[in-house]
Amino acid sequence: MDRRTFLKAGATAAIGALASSRLAFGADAELVLSPGEPGAVINPQIYGHFIEHLGGVIYDGVWVGRNSSIPNVDGIRKQFVDDMKRIGASNLRWPGGCFADGYHWRDGIGKASARPRTYNFWQRRMPAGLDATETNQFGIHEFMRLCRLIGAEPYVAANVGSGTPAEFHDWVSYCNAPAGTVSLADERAANGEKQPFGIRYWGVGNESWGCGGTMRPEEYATQYRKYVTQFPNYTQPFLVATGPRGHSADGDIGWTTGFFEAMRGFTPPDGFSIHFYTDLRPTTVKAGDFRANEWYEVLLRGVRLDKVIEDHWKEMEKFDAAHRTKLVIDEWGVWYAPGSEITPAYILSETITLRDAVHTGMTFDIFNRHAAKIEMANVAQTVNCIHSLFLAQGANFVLTPVYHVFDMYRAHMGARQVPLNNPVPSLDVPVLSGQAKLPGLSASASIRDRRLAVTLTNPSLDAALSVRLKLGDGARAAEARATVLTHQDMRATNTFADPDQVKLASHPVKVGADAVELIVPNQAIVLVECETS
Ligand code: AHR
Repeated sequence: MDRRTFLKAGATAAIGALASSRLAFGADAELVLSPGEPGAVINPQIYGHFIEHLGGVIYDGVWVGRNSSIPNVDGIRKQFVDDMKRIGASNLRWPGGCFADGYHWRDGIGKASARPRTYNFWQRRMPAGLDATETNQFGIHEFMRLCRLIGAEPYVAANVGSGTPAEFHDWVSYCNAPAGTVSLADERAANGEKQPFGIRYWGVGNESWGCGGTMRPEEYATQYRKYVTQFPNYTQPFLVATGPRGHSADGDIGWTTGFFEAMRGFTPPDGFSIHFYTDLRPTTVKAGDFRANEWYEVLLRGVRLDKVIEDHWKEMEKFDAAHRTKLVIDEWGVWYAPGSEITPAYILSETITLRDAVHTGMTFDIFNRHAAKIEMANVAQTVNCIHSLFLAQGANFVLTPVYHVFDMYRAHMGARQVPLNNPVPSLDVPVLSGQAKLPGLSASASIRDRRLAVTLTNPSLDAALSVRLKLGDGARAAEARATVLTHQDMRATNTFADPDQVKLASHPVKVGADAVELIVPNQAIVLVECETS
């Protein structure tokens, strides 16, 4: 186990050559998989998305307008649709975020030219002189069009902070009432959609402890009940209550305790949201330019999510032993201090590097390992924002390194989680405060129709790791292939001018009767797919 290979890995080709010579001599680590005892199904909704009316997310990122010279489908950026479809994007959360608790849905329906211009919550964050007036050109119809084009499930956040239960219920009826039943269904038909949208996922507010109303948990629980008691049940809903600020220093367990305490004796929500940002804003760590200790700091803060999930799940169990309420991690991502925006008006947009891709792999492995607890998760946010998969500005469009990780992990979507024994010891790494321990190898596995998918992320900046994936339960490996995402420069990124710096490449594996061997390069994510018999 201690035979960690201290090989300074270079370009992928060099790693490939290295791999074939190392494989003959055994592995540094043997991971044992149990495909015969698969666990929970990994809900495809875990690989979900989020777009908010903020900076350049909706306007430009998603919506370019019907008369734009940028290729579009009824005003929606075509490239965005195509690339989201390609990774099987499972859902889209909208309209916020903080914006949701100031949003009045009626402003976004009807003739586009007649829609009002309204105040946007993010106005106060805009650089002086720059406007953030909400034009309401992208409303519920445009959102549903986008979801259908992609094939993604809609997840709509309702306004609790400045709305009313009646406004929420009307919105639900407008969306879901069968044609010809109530006047709101007629109005929807008059606006071009005779058939109901059938929206199932509804968020009851957002960050109600902060921008969603600065409430105490018991206050929010009262609001939650008022908002859901008369919910128009046209489509069996999955109702998500606002949960904790998971990235708080104490994990914000108090919110979870307070909410569920106040909900005793009432129907619990279907989902309980956790927001978990790897929040670098209070530090000097920059998005695009950083040193080794800042690489590890980000990854170390990211893996705290594992404990946050465990802690809140345990707390919820005190009130709901059967765990009727599942977790919805509807905002997660690495959030850096301002400084790398693609243009000043696109607030919260960031340079996305290989470091963020490695963080994504480690996060997804955590989600997969907790698959039984998690209904859904949503990256914050999909385009032109924190932890984005895309950057877009006018005719320019680029896939970030994070996009490619979503692409790799689609192999797990809807498959059953496979237990694995990962004996790789922790790494001793430099971080902002000195030294810390970081998982030496992040891993998760799943199986569908005898096809095994194993994802492995090596966070080390200087040590590749030769790994043997041993198939337990008598499984035999028929054939295998692997894909890698890495780069010799830890700061590597994709830009409009140079879009393919960080991209997927195929990676060598050696297939034995009951095992697959490979080298996991330093600072890399690897997907191994193996047919078993
Ligand atoms: O994703 C950006 C913001 O972060 C969201 O609007 C809010 O919910 C969170 O604080």
